[in-house]
Amino acid sequence: MIVFDSENKIFYLSTNNTTYAMAVFGEKLLLHAYWGKRLSHPLSPDWLDTLEFRPLAPLDFGRFSTDMLPQEYSTFGSADLRIAALGAEYGDGSYYTRLEYVGFEIVEGKPALEGLPATYCEEGDKVETLVIHLADSLHGLHVYLSYSVFEELDAIARSAKIVNLGERAEINRAFSATVDFIGCEDRELVHLDGAWVRERSITRRAVVPGIQSIESRNGCSGAVHNPFIALCDKNATENSGNVYGFSLVYSGNFSAGIDLGPFNSARAYIGINPQNFNFVLENGESFQTPEAVLVYSAEGFGGMSRAYHKLYRTRLCRGKFRDIPRYVVLNSWETTYFTFDENTIVDLARDAAKIGVDTMVLDDGWFSTRTTDRAGLGDWWENPDRLPSGLGWLADEVNKLGLRFGLWFEPEMVNPDSELYRKHPEWALRTPGRETTPTRSQVTLDFSRQDVCEYIIDSLSSILDRANIEYVKWDMNRYMSEVGSAALPAERQGEVYHRYILGLYYVLETLTQKYPDVLFESCSSGGGRFDPGMLYYMPQVWTSDNSDAVDRLRIQYGTSMVYPYSSMSAHVSVCPNHTQGRITPFEMRCNVAMPGQLGFELNIGKCSEEELELSKKTIAKYRELEDVFHKGDLYRLVSPFEKDYCALEFVSEDKKRVILCIDSQRGLFNGPDQYIKMEALDPDAQYRCGDKTYFGEYLMNFGVHFCNKREHISEMLIFDKI
Ligand code: DGJ
Repeated sequence: MIVFDSENKIFYLSTNNTTYAMAVFGEKLLLHAYWGKRLSHPLSPDWLDTLEFRPLAPLDFGRFSTDMLPQEYSTFGSADLRIAALGAEYGDGSYYTRLEYVGFEIVEGKPALEGLPATYCEEGDKVETLVIHLADSLHGLHVYLSYSVFEELDAIARSAKIVNLGERAEINRAFSATVDFIGCEDRELVHLDGAWVRERSITRRAVVPGIQSIESRNGCSGAVHNPFIALCDKNATENSGNVYGFSLVYSGNFSAGIDLGPFNSARAYIGINPQNFNFVLENGESFQTPEAVLVYSAEGFGGMSRAYHKLYRTRLCRGKFRDIPRYVVLNSWETTYFTFDENTIVDLARDAAKIGVDTMVLDDGWFSTRTTDRAGLGDWWENPDRLPSGLGWLADEVNKLGLRFGLWFEPEMVNPDSELYRKHPEWALRTPGRETTPTRSQVTLDFSRQDVCEYIIDSLSSILDRANIEYVKWDMNRYMSEVGSAALPAERQGEVYHRYILGLYYVLETLTQKYPDVLFESCSSGGGRFDPGMLYYMPQVWTSDNSDAVDRLRIQYGTSMVYPYSSMSAHVSVCPNHTQGRITPFEMRCNVAMPGQLGFELNIGKCSEEELELSKKTIAKYRELEDVFHKGDLYRLVSPFEKDYCALEFVSEDKKRVILCIDSQRGLFNGPDQYIKMEALDPDAQYRCGDKTYFGEYLMNFGVHFCNKREHISEMLIFDKI
């Protein structure tokens, strides 16, 4: 619900549990007034007078200074010396932008963001959008701040559109959202960090004076940081305390952080990384920032995550795969790597059929001269030595076994040893006169170019059109460096990183719309590009190349801060694990993979009878429980970052079924008794688990006993409300 108090010029944006407020100050300046628990009454008229007078501050607004006022969208070059939301340089060399309030409009629903992924609403959703118009009258630069209020989902989606009606200007920073917090004392900053095979660990640190920032500069969202931060009370826990989440619907370079000043006021920000970003706007041109999704929770991190899960699962993911059960795949990678032919794949599929796998995915190595990772990327046609009968034949053979057929691509890359590169070296990103550093013997195709995008659309279409391919794994295995585009003039080279992402989104939009029955899975050396932008096109992501059950507990737990388990592809793989050599029980590997999108990545023909039986049972159980894992609410009871075991609770939408997953990373022989307190149950109802029944209040207050007495205990307890 959006209400404008015209007397006091205050906008109130309210969801079921939250309110976000802005005020027009002195008829000119748009201020941030409040964000937190839902308000039922207006702010006190003297809310702003609470700010203390500061000697030496530049007083450009009566007794107030823009440097201390909580601003909604601040500008570089002004008297506000904190980190700015918007920066521009003008033809006369000046770089001071002064935005003043012009007006507003409230529209029903939520307009799409042109060329960019974004949350959306459907008929019947309670969603309204407020668009606030600000302008710099000297330079003719107009800014439209957009706030879509998802009333029932407790989220606000923000973005900014910059329209230049003046002389040529260069935009050198344009965050999607900034929020100024006053009285920002004893807060902490949380973000998700890591590297290849250890993605999205949770980092929590005190907010201290100065700027604390996480960023990506490698052309994609990356494994090192995720485009998400949360600001929280020092004592916030999983189920208590104020938490403010910022998540960016973008897959390229980003920056997010907090700038704490000397008077307990702090500015949180999220958006495109200003480094290597410079966007030229001629008269009449505009720039649309990506969308930032803001979630406030008074119920700690659990409340924040559940809001993100529901929004991203139901109003970011699209297409028929959003709601239907997805596929249980066998992926060939860890079984064959680069050594296989068409018969190997048919044999793998035959074995997979025996345990109930429904989709056979042929990973890397099937095309052109690709027998190692040093050649072939860019040449999207079958390797005639490996697949002499062709992809059509292979897909048919797999189909005859009762399985779907899926295929791996890495469309954004090219090996210098490829026909494509030999023909079009100018199609790779490069800086003139410089060598491009190869990573994994490959360089990046310049997706900022329309011709490159069309070539990739055509290449992939020709494959998807001539074989019955029902699943695509879209991989991307290098960070960008020495970035430049041969197609853009010198003054527009600062646009390449962003134009690359726009090109990528164009290709993904075209292909996913053209092939709505193909399930697309995103991958970037595992979870190197696990972000909301990708989820808009592809509803699931290969969470990590690390499929070890113990490491996956942490990776999936960290990922779940923002992303639902329905978006996490998780496979049962062989032991010793190929990434880090650990041996874990087969049952634990199955149990840890099950809440995600279950799949397998091992040679089923080499499994023992016992493992085959367990695999069959796992798939059957998964099919029975997947709705609870994927559509229910997640309660994180015990963190694997804090204890030697992990406990997760999934509550079905109708609250009748509850699954408790307990997995031990490391055991302690003769260790202490633990009592895991469950959540969100009906205290007065009884729940059946096996042949026992318990009251909800018992499970929540006394708890479920667990003794972490040996390595890798794995329990999955199913409680049904009677
Ligand atoms: C990286 C992916 O994460 C793996 O699963 C696999 O597809 C390889 N690329 C293939 O090159």
